Amino acid sequence: MKISPSFLTCDFTNLKSELNEIKDVCEYIHIDVMDGVFVPNLTFGPKLIKDLRPHFSNVFDVHLMIIDPIKYIKEFADAGSDIITFHYESLSNVMDTINEIKKYGKKVGLSIKPNSSVDDIKRYLPYLDLVLVMSVEPGFGGQKFMNSSIDKIKKLYSLREENKYNYEIEVDGGINEETIVYVKESNIDVVVAGSYIMNSSNKKEKVETLMNK
Ligand code: DX5
Ligand code: ZN
Repeated sequence: MKISPSFLTCDFTNLKSELNEIKDVCEYIHIDVMDGVFVPNLTFGPKLIKDLRPHFSNVFDVHLMIIDPIKYIKEFADAGSDIITFHYESLSNVMDTINEIKKYGKKVGLSIKPNSSVDDIKRYLPYLDLVLVMSVEPGFGGQKFMNSSIDKIKKLYSLREENKYNYEIEVDGGINEETIVYVKESNIDVVVAGSYIMNSSNKKEKVETLMNK
């Protein structure tokens, strides 16, 4: 299991040093891009990813919460993203967006919000490197974990076993030292954790706590 810290709740003027605290204990860094349309919050665009890139060798796990992601794939690829995850519920054609991400040699992730099901994305599973199950409504850090995500993770796991698919299964939202226990039992591959890690004065210890639970 990998931990992918999300820096949404960090002080952005201090971002580099906050990420330096965890970069050696995490393989991934989760980067939340929001456009104020797909979700009721705004963050940043590819410029921040480009600026962070030379300072970190971690896998940049980019989560696009934007309404028409296909328009911006080239920019996020050029900025140095490693995995580009977009939402099934966005307006872009799903298969075209998958192909656009692959065109730039990046790993492709597809995410579902709490009201979407695994069945909704079943036909895309053979083409994915990652499936991101949202365990909160996307938009903000610090929300409560939704248990409905557990069955989706289990279903994605059994579909992968049955069909020999290659995607990693990732969960995002409301992870802390209690909820990590449930997701671990469901064979998760990547766990996003934001406020639990980043709101602490000892971020490294929080990552280690999650790993060892
Ligand atoms: C929410 C974002 C998450 C968020 C998680 O829309 O996609 O990545 O930062 O934050 P926590 O772990 O605090 O729920
Ligand atoms: Zn996220």
